[in-house]
Amino acid sequence: MEAIKELSVIEPTSKTEKEVEELVKDWGNDGEKLIMAMLAVQDKYNWLPPDALDYLSRRFEVPKGQIYHIATFYKVFSLVPRGKHILKLCMGTACHVRGAPMIADALQRDYDIPLGSTSDDGLFTLERVNCVGACAIGPVLVVDGQYRGNMTQNRASAVIKRLKRLAEKEAENA
Ligand code: FES
Repeated sequence: MEAIKELSVIEPTSKTEKEVEELVKDWGNDGEKLIMAMLAVQDKYNWLPPDALDYLSRRFEVPKGQIYHIATFYKVFSLVPRGKHILKLCMGTACHVRGAPMIADALQRDYDIPLGSTSDDGLFTLERVNCVGACAIGPVLVVDGQYRGNMTQNRASAVIKRLKRLAEKEAENA
């Protein structure tokens, strides 16, 4: 009877829980795998949704407080929603003098992507970063981890348009 009760406690029910279970299904409930599980969740959603963390807490039998402590300790984790695509605009000195602020202005003006925030459609998060070590090719926009150098307003616009088209195609095929 007790065993049945325990199983029902960790049975995924919501869409998020089922998606998370799919990510961690091979890892048993070994608490040692918790950070890997959190990384997998972060990777999938670009942030750690509360219901996903609730599920991980039950799934790995780790108190929620401990999970939130880890989530706030490591910079790689975000407890606030982030966009499907993460744009990091370098505002270090070299990029700044070569026009990075104008790129930020253009992304805000033309696509409603505010610096330091996420677009309303949830597609883009635009973050300000300091020197990313590629000053020679500045201004630099890091798009989902890929460095794009010699960035201009037009090039940034082309990046956004391409990613929007991709999202539309994915939505059509869903
Ligand atoms: S200042 Fe932007 S890469 Fe160095």
